Amino acid sequence: MNRKPTRRQGRPPAFAYHQSRRGLLRRRSAERILHCDDVPLPGLAERLGTPLYVYSASAIRERVRAFDRAFRKVPHTLCYSVKANSNLGILRLLARLGCGFDVVSGGELERVLRADRRAAKKVVFSGVGKTTDEMRAALKAGILLFNVESESELGALAECAARLKQTARIALRINPDVPANTHPYISTGLHQHKFGLRSSEARGLYARASGSQHLKIAGVSVHIGSQITEVAPFALAMERVAELVGELRSDGHQIDYVDAGGGLGIAYGDEASPEFADHVAAYADALLRPLRGLKVHLLLEPGRAIVGAAGALLTRVLYRKHNDGKKFVVVDAAMNDLLRPALYDAYHEIAPVRLDEPPPEQREKLDVVGPVCETGDFFAHGRELPPVHEGDLLAILDAGAYGMALASNYNTRPRPAEVLVDGKSVRIIRRRETMDDLLRLET
Ligand code: LLP
Repeated sequence: MNRKPTRRQGRPPAFAYHQSRRGLLRRRSAERILHCDDVPLPGLAERLGTPLYVYSASAIRERVRAFDRAFRKVPHTLCYSVKANSNLGILRLLARLGCGFDVVSGGELERVLRADRRAAKKVVFSGVGKTTDEMRAALKAGILLFNVESESELGALAECAARLKQTARIALRINPDVPANTHPYISTGLHQHKFGLRSSEARGLYARASGSQHLKIAGVSVHIGSQITEVAPFALAMERVAELVGELRSDGHQIDYVDAGGGLGIAYGDEASPEFADHVAAYADALLRPLRGLKVHLLLEPGRAIVGAAGALLTRVLYRKHNDGKKFVVVDAAMNDLLRPALYDAYHEIAPVRLDEPPPEQREKLDVVGPVCETGDFFAHGRELPPVHEGDLLAILDAGAYGMALASNYNTRPRPAEVLVDGKSVRIIRRRETMDDLLRLET
């Protein structure tokens, strides 16, 4: 094996081709084989079956470090957004790296506590519909901050904390009315969206909160959406937040934290894109400029930017077929395993796991589809790929965020296994579901 990984621009080298001489021995042209870190993907597929989620621990570490480097000049905590990928193995890895967590349900909080009980003090709890049970669990766990989104929620939290004879640290989530150039389903920072409160309304609510002995005003939070690749909207939102922090302080409130939310986008296509470290540095600059001189502890809630590029969905080609001149490749993964193309018409790069060397010039326009009985069950339309045969393995890239997290059992399909690769080591962090797992709860 000749270790010559090809780095794909703008991404950590989690998934790279290494040259293999096996093909040469069989007197064929040489092959390149896609690896995750140092582990060849064909071996993983043989051993663990497909579809299979494969994650790179080194890529996750690299991204956490890039964030920490970019924000090194200010006190900050990375509160990884659990919804992006909530596997306990991933949460444990992030906890060991010193991350806190952004949760949006009692279930996510429970995952964090099981991954590392000590991480509770770095948990922020976001979401428009926290139930009193969830509030109680979070208060008992001693989380860092509740991001409150409405007057009613503020009242419910105060009552809940009073009953437990505790104090809830709060930030109000501001809706800054900033457009973010992203898919409408994941844009959250406009007044027409259900999220957050207008700054004007927030000021009154902070005054109300300061009257409750069971609420402790601690910060201001904001989150304008997800998969935002330009940094200007973040800067604009932060300007509104900084303005409000000034007003609140002049009203006499103590504001220690600014929670900037998540949302930093990643490059899904093969378009020229900046190196991640440069991108996150520009993001840091956009956030920090408006906050200069405010002396706050910055909380960040990235999800996708940490785990997106660190994961791939490995799938095998079942069949090829033609309809009216259109060529289809039917694979064994489906929309239930990776919903993003069906839900957002999202683009994911698809890489053949074995590639002849030199790469063949011939390319085909293919629709890559799954076996589920819906036309929306596709991974790519009219994608140009090198020749793909039945039995071949394909890797659907950048599937580490909102992949397994959005997976379902639609069509009674067991969800894939998940493995975490670290250099040469492979750890199964979730086994493949069985039919018994799926049917256990039904009578
Ligand atoms: N904080 C809050 C309050 C959020 O609502 C979200 C994401 C995040 C942080 C993390 O955002 P990120 O850094 O991952 O962009 N399923 C969609 C994405 C939904 C995002 C929802 N909120 C997708 O597959 O693109």
